[in-house]
Amino acid sequence: MTSVLLGEGAQAAGEPAEPLAAFDRAIAADERIEPRDWMPDDYRSTLVRQMAQHAHSEIIGMQPEANWITRAPSLRRKAILMAKVQDEAGHGLYLYSAAETLGTSRDELLDKLHSGRQKYSSIFNYPTLTWADVGAIGWLVDGAAITNQVPLCRCSYGPYARAMIRICKEESFHQRQGFELLLALSRGTEAQHAMAQDAVDRWWWPSLMMFGPPDDESAHSARSMEWKIKRHSNDELRQRFVDICVPQAEALGLTLPDPELSWNESRGHWDFGPIDWEEFRQVLKGNGPCNEERLRRRREAHENGAWVRDAAAAYAAKNAAPGRGRVREQDLTETAVSA
Ligand code: 3HC
Repeated sequence: MTSVLLGEGAQAAGEPAEPLAAFDRAIAADERIEPRDWMPDDYRSTLVRQMAQHAHSEIIGMQPEANWITRAPSLRRKAILMAKVQDEAGHGLYLYSAAETLGTSRDELLDKLHSGRQKYSSIFNYPTLTWADVGAIGWLVDGAAITNQVPLCRCSYGPYARAMIRICKEESFHQRQGFELLLALSRGTEAQHAMAQDAVDRWWWPSLMMFGPPDDESAHSARSMEWKIKRHSNDELRQRFVDICVPQAEALGLTLPDPELSWNESRGHWDFGPIDWEEFRQVLKGNGPCNEERLRRRREAHENGAWVRDAAAAYAAKNAAPGRGRVREQDLTETAVSA
């Protein structure tokens, strides 16, 4: 039997015909693929690549904002920022766990991040120079992330799709806190307004790059869309984001740094100016303003956390010792009776 989606003769060497047909039928019927289901090797490796890059982005993304926790201007802002950075750590953990269901360990993925063999989002290689950058990241970076990630809640791979539902709910709070922070600055003193505008000027173009290269240069989009991992192309989502941001910028009283932004009546979308793809390529090559610092800090954090991993492993081994489970159950019963 040939593959429904990939067409006649597309069956990869060594792929068993019957399970492949069942896989294709499931994808065509919009059913979820679950960890124990048979799947083509390329589907598995595409998912691991995307989910790993996504997980790495969440944990590297903690760095630029954590830079401002000690300098947040009020206790309220500090508490909000700490909660947001903690959420990002949680997102990384859900995603590493989801990737583990594909047979790849978290250690292996972290090793690939630390050795530069796997990417993380280009956006986190830019510096957070002022407090307003925390607002711009929330509004633009988390806004772009939501635009990209809401369709991933319908991804064909079950564990990834389910992780994305919770992640998107939290990202939505993040986006709103960024908008609210920028609004407060924009309506504040002249200096505060200028700081907000400067942050938006610096984060706007890198946010558009988050969606990935243009469709005609996107190596993986076509296949990922056939497999319903991605539901929309990079350019479609980028356009959706621009359309959302233009009226929001107006509500904020801020301008977007693109003189070519104009409403296109016939397309029903905002036209925007050219993106500097050379800058994007340089950032991906490791030549962004903060690439070196982000990876160095990540490696240091990993090394400094070795004792926590050792302690957790020792605790798990102790609890796995024969008879240990029974003792604990008995302890619990005794506690319950004496309570
Ligand atoms: N930064 C770094 N690398 C990028 C990139 C970006 N913004 N956009 C694309 N790339 C890489 C791809 O990984 C691929 O590299 P590879 O072949 O070495 O793996 C190459 O550029 C070609 O791009 P494609 O368009 O072919 O790649 P994809 O089909 O994978 O599409 C994507 C790229 C749209 C980013 C897609 O992977 C995706 O939707 N990923 C899930 C979402 C994600 O990773 N988001 C991270 C952003 S931020 C975040 O999550 C944190 C939040 O708190 C803000």
